[in-house]
Amino acid sequence: MDQSDTLVLDTGAAMRAVRAGLAGTVGLVPTMGYLHQGHMALVRRSREENDHTIVSIFVNPTQFGPQEDFQRYPRDPERDLSLLKKEGVDFVFMPSVPEIYPAGFDTYVAPGSIAERLEGAARPGHFRGVATVVLKLFNIVQPTRAYFGQKDAQQVAVIKKMALDLALGLEITPVPTVREPDGLAMSSRNVYLNPSEHQAALCLWRSLRAARDLWAKGERRAETLRQSMRTILESEPLARIEYVSAAYGETLQELEEIQPAAQVSLAVWIGKTRLIDNIELRV
Ligand code: PAF
Repeated sequence: MDQSDTLVLDTGAAMRAVRAGLAGTVGLVPTMGYLHQGHMALVRRSREENDHTIVSIFVNPTQFGPQEDFQRYPRDPERDLSLLKKEGVDFVFMPSVPEIYPAGFDTYVAPGSIAERLEGAARPGHFRGVATVVLKLFNIVQPTRAYFGQKDAQQVAVIKKMALDLALGLEITPVPTVREPDGLAMSSRNVYLNPSEHQAALCLWRSLRAARDLWAKGERRAETLRQSMRTILESEPLARIEYVSAAYGETLQELEEIQPAAQVSLAVWIGKTRLIDNIELRV
């Protein structure tokens, strides 16, 4: 397909009708738009592995808390569409809020214990909103595979568990985090950072690397890793720690001793911007 073939659909009915006519495998890349190279990595992976790729762009109000940044979340649909066209994406699903949540909408997915820790504890109701919209997107698009960035590792774990528990019959594919050359994990929210905050935000990656280096040298006490991350973050005046964690990757239970498939993660405020990042401790 060349760029001009990208088709934009804004209703569930139109999306379903198009999907019904697609033969072969379909990859879905759910996004909230304001696309960056992290999203493009998901798109490329989906295009490699599927006959068709559908990208959804929807800033989902139900995953934002009342004091969070739903209203000011960055949006640039024209730029997004031009990036996706260049990338050769077949279809873009861009529904409105009332299309996904019509008047009277009253059914939500309640993810279990995996959604209670870390991001779930810091952002009550967040994963309920994520799981609900993702399930609805899955129901409309009926993908063979869906692609999510590993930067939101807990989101991946919640969606994998939902797919398993509710027998959704599709593959959930995590894609490694894409970083700026200086190490900052790509995120649509990076646009909120001014240059000195961007510099300050590098403490996230520094602290994850420090934990990984300690682990690589043989340190297995999880609290030592958490403490080393805290020390680095606390030395950055613009940073305020929300949590640091060294947990088992599948359940996100905090560990005393690092085991295979452990994950270190953190949420840190840089000024008024909340950033998250993580790294897997894998041989
Ligand atoms: O990761 C995101 O951008 C969102 O949480 C998602 C998966 C598109 C659901 O709104």
